[in-house]
Amino acid sequence: EVVDADGLILLPGLVDLHTHLREPGREDAETVRSGTRAAAKGGYTAVCAMANSYPVADTAGVVEQVAALGKAAGYADVQPIGAVSVGLEGKQLAEIGAMAHSAAKVRMFSDDGHCVADPIMMRRALEYVKTFGGLIAQHAEEPRLTEGAQMNEGAVSAELGLPGWPAVAEEAIIARDVLLAEYTGARVHFCHVSTARSVDIIREAKARGAKVTAEVCPHHLLLTDEAARTYDPVYKVNPPLRRESDVAVLRGALAEGVIDAVATDHAPHAPQDKDCEWAAARPGMLGLETALSITVLALGGPEGVDWDTVAERTSRTPARIAGLEAHGRDPQPGTEANFTLVDPTATWTVVPADLASLSRNTPYAGMVLPVTVQATFLRGRATVLNGKIAEETTE
Ligand code: NCD
Ligand code: ZN
Ligand code: ZN
Repeated sequence: EVVDADGLILLPGLVDLHTHLREPGREDAETVRSGTRAAAKGGYTAVCAMANSYPVADTAGVVEQVAALGKAAGYADVQPIGAVSVGLEGKQLAEIGAMAHSAAKVRMFSDDGHCVADPIMMRRALEYVKTFGGLIAQHAEEPRLTEGAQMNEGAVSAELGLPGWPAVAEEAIIARDVLLAEYTGARVHFCHVSTARSVDIIREAKARGAKVTAEVCPHHLLLTDEAARTYDPVYKVNPPLRRESDVAVLRGALAEGVIDAVATDHAPHAPQDKDCEWAAARPGMLGLETALSITVLALGGPEGVDWDTVAERTSRTPARIAGLEAHGRDPQPGTEANFTLVDPTATWTVVPADLASLSRNTPYAGMVLPVTVQATFLRGRATVLNGKIAEETTE
């Protein structure tokens, strides 16, 4: 293809460390195909698929199935994340070695959807992944501190009379796992960091040389717990939307690099799981198709943003964390490159019906966002052209 890139920004293809593709098990909410189409439209060339599918990705068979579905679809590389524990229950270590040595070559393990809340399990998992250079992506909150929680604990939850989800539930696990990372010498990656104090703990840990990395989600860079006043479940997410002051600290930490990467935590949900009362709704929101725009907003807007920092936080660093060697590289002539072309001056309105995702639970519906993805190339082949899935433009 010949693409007129005049006036466009060239980025290495975006890499998402944290995507829920819902296949196997909840293909009504998302499939590997629909989720990777959404990824391509968002400028991504690789996604790491979270383990909380049905069945859980806790065996070589399931991770190989997810990887094969990604290959067959052809819109983005799909790197499965393995479950740390059987069924995500945190009681028994999963077949970590079998997943690592499988065709899916799993390096990152997580218990998203549940927790490696038990420090003994976490220690054993860290010692295990250290033997082959893997890492644990920790998403857990201290479970006893979040029982019954409905939204961020603070002034707004007090006013609404909803049970609060305290920041310390996240911070306690991060502090503990920084210590376990140092103790075992293994790598820990902190998923969806959402509080100012978490950033402090990670900053101090890195200053001591702990092998820790961290991601922030677009929604925690833009939205606050004020949104819960609407009682619209589209704003319900784990961890919850926090305070304005947390948003400011997260933005600063992302610009600085204390937070290493933006990860979407793209969490598609079927209508029946969101079109209900706040308390009954599943947590999670869409992210892949809006992440780049929100990242640009958080890093200074289309005029002020430093595009090299965008490339670093959305592509190069996440590719390095996940060990995806073909990604996060600036395209070189004569290679089958992974890249995306962005219009820095365009804006777009988020229309849920236009999204490539099968689900519609975006918190940005109707918002006008900066910058558009014009084209995405996976190994030298267009997956997106003129802002549309490539096959649709060539048909
Ligand atoms: C995640 C999901 O939907 O799978 N939801 C979310 O709010 N982030 C699971 C989780 O991380 O709790
Ligand atoms: Zn999570
Ligand atoms: Zn998640």
